[in-house]
Amino acid sequence: MSEAPERLASLAVPARLPLPDWPLGWYAVARSDDLPRGAVRRLTLADEEIVLFRTAGGVPGALDAFCPHMGAHLAHGRVTGEHLQCALHCWRIGVDGGIVDQSPRARAWPVREVHGLVMIELGAGAEPPVAGDDSFGWTGIAPLDIAVSWHALMANAFDMPHLCTVHHRALLAPPEISHDGRAFSLRYVSRVTGTGLSDRVMQRLSGDRIDVRLTCHGSVLVVETDLGFTRTAAIVGMVPTEQGTRLNAAFGVRRGPLLGLRLALTRWLFGAFLRRDLGIVEGMRLRTDVDDATLQALFDFLRSRRRPRR
Ligand code: FES
Ligand SMILES: [Fe+2]
Repeated sequence: MSEAPERLASLAVPARLPLPDWPLGWYAVARSDDLPRGAVRRLTLADEEIVLFRTAGGVPGALDAFCPHMGAHLAHGRVTGEHLQCALHCWRIGVDGGIVDQSPRARAWPVREVHGLVMIELGAGAEPPVAGDDSFGWTGIAPLDIAVSWHALMANAFDMPHLCTVHHRALLAPPEISHDGRAFSLRYVSRVTGTGLSDRVMQRLSGDRIDVRLTCHGSVLVVETDLGFTRTAAIVGMVPTEQGTRLNAAFGVRRGPLLGLRLALTRWLFGAFLRRDLGIVEGMRLRTDVDDATLQALFDFLRSRRRPRR
């Protein structure tokens, strides 16, 4: 893209720092459907061992994995009512870390459910990312694992030249970037130049003008599209794994007649778009010295979200 957005000088980050693997912010760690009442799961986020569970009343919780009593792994415990009960001496711990009849507290992480995704916050102190608005209905897909860093996937979303080469779209106006310190956004307007089935459907639906807003909230990407007669949205959580990245995604469209059908169509269109990327970026080693002002601004933003050492 020849248009050069301004570098985000206000972020004041040294240009050559590596991108943080675990930036401040929210992580979409699971689908709500995969965490039924009574479920207990273990997970690792950054250097934190965590147990994720859902109480009998349906409230999700995330606790430090090791019981404050003698350190038993709480993944061996079970849910009793609104508590997670340690398997060793049966201390009962609530989602806020409070323990029944005991004074110590377990460490608890903020957990929210957004559009059918379970999110855990690593140290940002902000509300979780949302997409669309209250009028939207949502659907999801099974988690996707891909052997590439989430940095490469996030960079792909903001890589304007590949819109033409991979997605067969042409920009109708130069993209605009903005940020508020917690999120980094890019808005662009494109038209379809491809001739595949999903291209033709999108062309037809959009009147050939697709207004897109991408927002990077650390490792969570929000995509909002305005097609004129309707709006759609996607939220894509990217969690680093040993093999690369796990994607947990949800897709939304405004509620109304034939919602199920329109959700299925939205999921198919986003899926077709995403599949074009995944087959190509698998195995990529992202270079951050690329001569692209939009990507350099994105990288500056990500560097500014580095978590302080504990
Ligand atoms: S180690 Fe958990 S209750 Fe004793
Ligand atoms: Fe892409």
